[in-house]
Amino acid sequence: MPAPSPSGAFREVRLHVVTGKGGTGKTTVAAALALALAAGGRRVLLCEVEGRQGLAQLFDVPQLAYAEHQIARPSGGGELWAQAVEPKAALLEYLDLFYHLGRAGKVLERIGAIDFATTVAPGLRDVLLTGKVYEATRRRDRGAPHYDAVVLDAPPTGRIGHFLNVNEEVVGLAKVGPIRNQAGSIMSLLRSAQTAVHLVTVLEEMPVQETQDAAAELHRIGLPVGAVVVNMVREPLLSPAALAAAAKGRLSVTKVVAGLTAAGLSGHGAGRGAGRGAGTVGASAARSALRPLAEALIAEGMDHAERVRLEEDQRAVLASLQRPLVELPALAEGVDLGALYLLAERLGEQGMS
Ligand SMILES: Nc1ncnc2c1ncn2[C@@H]1O[C@H](COP(=O)(O)OP(=O)(O)OP(=O)(O)O)[C@@H](O)[C@H]1O
Ligand SMILES: [Mg+2]
Repeated sequence: MPAPSPSGAFREVRLHVVTGKGGTGKTTVAAALALALAAGGRRVLLCEVEGRQGLAQLFDVPQLAYAEHQIARPSGGGELWAQAVEPKAALLEYLDLFYHLGRAGKVLERIGAIDFATTVAPGLRDVLLTGKVYEATRRRDRGAPHYDAVVLDAPPTGRIGHFLNVNEEVVGLAKVGPIRNQAGSIMSLLRSAQTAVHLVTVLEEMPVQETQDAAAELHRIGLPVGAVVVNMVREPLLSPAALAAAAKGRLSVTKVVAGLTAAGLSGHGAGRGAGRGAGTVGASAARSALRPLAEALIAEGMDHAERVRLEEDQRAVLASLQRPLVELPALAEGVDLGALYLLAERLGEQGMS
């Protein structure tokens, strides 16, 4: 069964979580999605939580701070803001907010208690990071949401389940009180139709396997899987008929030689004889000289056909997840700011914004 189309599927979503196997393009896709969402005149916050400064590199701006600041103004009056959420700063803010520990928090920091808490207890780190993202998503100004959408460049698939579900553990630990309430509210948002966890992958076996595993895990813990974003898709270089022939080893050396000759290749300068007779002999010598090149090209064509076939298999596996599938091209020049806008446009065209 083909995967459903994403058109408009995420219109209600306020928190877009972007995960995927390491290196598949989470940061790139999160940034492109945030741009796509902002393009229609919306105010969008893009958050990173891994302390990697990947977004600053991508947008070619100085290091992102904990404080939110605007990094792009997409067309149509949109605003893109960004923030590097950092557990230490989040803890200080949290202590201040809940316990009014403004100055006392600074003392805790000076004696190393904040470092201790955020590094020794990795669970606490995730509680703080998700808490901050929750706060930004729910923030309101005069009754209206401050941000129309928040996009999170999230931890990779291997850690996403624990990262997003950490507040469930807090609910279990804190039986009553503000911490339990806060954790409960975070889980309610994450489980609601206002959240979508998008899975980024490339068409290779390992990342596709991780995508399947992550979808199953998210499903099991009751978190909504959004789209499957197939990144770095390469168009087949041959027509479907040529691919089928190549896969069966049926590409003809004679035809490839004829094609090379027609393209003006003469094979090591052979075929440049003088006179009519010499011309005929020369042409046949040129064709023989082109044979090794034609054979090498056919071998490459077979490898290419095999790769395309394997990619089709992976695409079928992804389609079986029954989530909207969107595709982004592999950009030969890499991803600069201009490329990011192009990827954003592709996401928009496929109904992601
Ligand atoms: N569509 C694309 N076309 C070409 N290059 C791409 C594309 N998407 C991502 N890349 C490149 O692939 C590399 C990995 O991308 P990115 O940093 O977004 O992945 P990631 O999943 O966030 O990685 P990490 O796990 O390290 O955080 C980068 O060099 C990026 O520029
Ligand atoms: Mg990244």
